[in-house]
Amino acid sequence: MTKLTVNNQPVQYRMDPATPLLWALRDASNLTGTKYGCGRGDCGACTVEIDGEAVRSCRMTLAEAEGRFVTTIEALSRDRSHPVQQAWVAEGVPQCGFCQSGMIMAAAVLLKKNPNPADADIDAAITNICRCGTYPRIRAAIRHAARVNAGAEPIAAAPPPGIDPADAARAVPALTPPPAKPGS
Ligand code: FES
Ligand code: FES
Repeated sequence: MTKLTVNNQPVQYRMDPATPLLWALRDASNLTGTKYGCGRGDCGACTVEIDGEAVRSCRMTLAEAEGRFVTTIEALSRDRSHPVQQAWVAEGVPQCGFCQSGMIMAAAVLLKKNPNPADADIDAAITNICRCGTYPRIRAAIRHAARVNAGAEPIAAAPPPGIDPADAARAVPALTPPPAKPGS
């Protein structure tokens, strides 16, 4: 039994202590925002925050995570209100999106350590890989979040989670709900 704290909740995993933390988070805790890309520490899709550091969770075993405080993308904020999430929306960063939760976690950790990073600092700290090449927008969003954190710039609230069925129907007419039957 391995005990650690995940998203401020004490958790005990009845799994082989050699299991990568990534699989405990995804398979046992259903925290599927943390992604599996390469499984060898290269891509950063699995990045979570552990005790204030950005860590590739595919390369840490449950045993190594014992007693530590883990934060995943699901707990960065409950309502997308974290400045990094807001800046990500404002700058339209994601393309396919697969790398993005790892990027956002790495960016959030960077801004805690360095509130005003230059592009060189961003490139040095965030070694995650984006196969869609969103790097220029990632840098712009991190600089944007830094300005918001410093109070130098307001930011429009990102839309709430979920999707309005009417919006979906506008984009995909086949999703338009059928008219209600008389008497129903
Ligand atoms: S899945 Fe962990 S670094 Fe790629
Ligand atoms: S947005 Fe597609 S991999 Fe980064």
